[in-house]
Amino acid sequence: MRSKNTYILGIESSCDDTAAAILCNGNVLSNVVANQAIHQKYGGVVPELASRAHQQNIVPVVDQAIEQAGISLADLSAVAFTQGPGLMGSLLVGTSFAKSLAYGLDIPLIDVNHMQAHILAHFIENEDTEKPEFPFLAMTISGGHTQIVRVDAHFKMTVIGETIDDAVGEAFDKSGKILGLGYPAGPEIDKRAKLGNPKAFKFTKPKVAGLNFSFSGLKTAILYFIQKQLKENPQFIEENLDDVCASIQYTIVGILMDKLKLAVKETGINRIAIGGGVSANSGIRDALKEAESRYGWKTFVPAFEFTTDNAAMIAIVGHLKYLEKNYADQSIMATARLKL
Ligand code: KG4
Ligand code: ZN
Repeated sequence: MRSKNTYILGIESSCDDTAAAILCNGNVLSNVVANQAIHQKYGGVVPELASRAHQQNIVPVVDQAIEQAGISLADLSAVAFTQGPGLMGSLLVGTSFAKSLAYGLDIPLIDVNHMQAHILAHFIENEDTEKPEFPFLAMTISGGHTQIVRVDAHFKMTVIGETIDDAVGEAFDKSGKILGLGYPAGPEIDKRAKLGNPKAFKFTKPKVAGLNFSFSGLKTAILYFIQKQLKENPQFIEENLDDVCASIQYTIVGILMDKLKLAVKETGINRIAIGGGVSANSGIRDALKEAESRYGWKTFVPAFEFTTDNAAMIAIVGHLKYLEKNYADQSIMATARLKL
């Protein structure tokens, strides 16, 4: 007989990380992520290579998650997987693996929306972090998405603002590429920004109505700025890299904070949770902390390991859906453009 504990296996394969995690009653027992180093030399994710790497990684990653959790496959209550959004070839690997495993073990299969998971990562049982009370605003900032979402309940979410072109993570990564930094450049820009002067160079913020974002103009502005400086001084980048990184980060954080302030004003909700890879950024973390004392906001920042793509966030959504008996059936398909 199965125990009363709920053990959920989460599987994430939407982009370039193959991840598996086990949660017991919402507590993380294991959280394994295999990064794909192969993309670094191409300066971005190559979908075909990502899919192939997922195929190589998925079995060992799931095995490791099970082993680290100290359970066996027979203990699992359900298998949760990322249905989308993401790269089709990548999603297919996790989806077909999850479907076969759930079928073989004769346990429920649960589909998870990756963007919902970045938000619900805040509900992973964790002594160090507090869970946001409903309603709250979630800002999901990653390499593929930039959204402000009104969250009224676990599964009642409304997108109230989003990017009309590039995602904020792309703004970091593409700026980094212009500066000759490796991929993804976000963490490196963050590291260098701490050593530089954020007001050394000024970049104009885009003017976009309402709660929507735009980052493609900023990337072009940075490109022209660097090209102009290099004409005058071929060593400009080497001599000013920390200041340039600090100025770029300061501009991007300013854009995010301006929209958050507007969202708080429009909704009257001042509980703000962030999620997605860019929420690891120290600039946005500091700005949110400051907003707590300056504007009386309550802000929620996930533990570091749950900010970038991971499977614990997929498993927590699986856990919450499992409690509601909200299961998928075997006809479910990976969906690259899945909406929130
Ligand atoms: O959520 P995520 O792991 O994958 C997607 O779903 O896209 O986010 C990856 C993005 C990349 O663009 C990366 O440069 C950015 O998150 N990122 C950061 C930092 N750490 C990761 N951007 C700025 N500062 C960071 N510390
Ligand atoms: Zn993500």
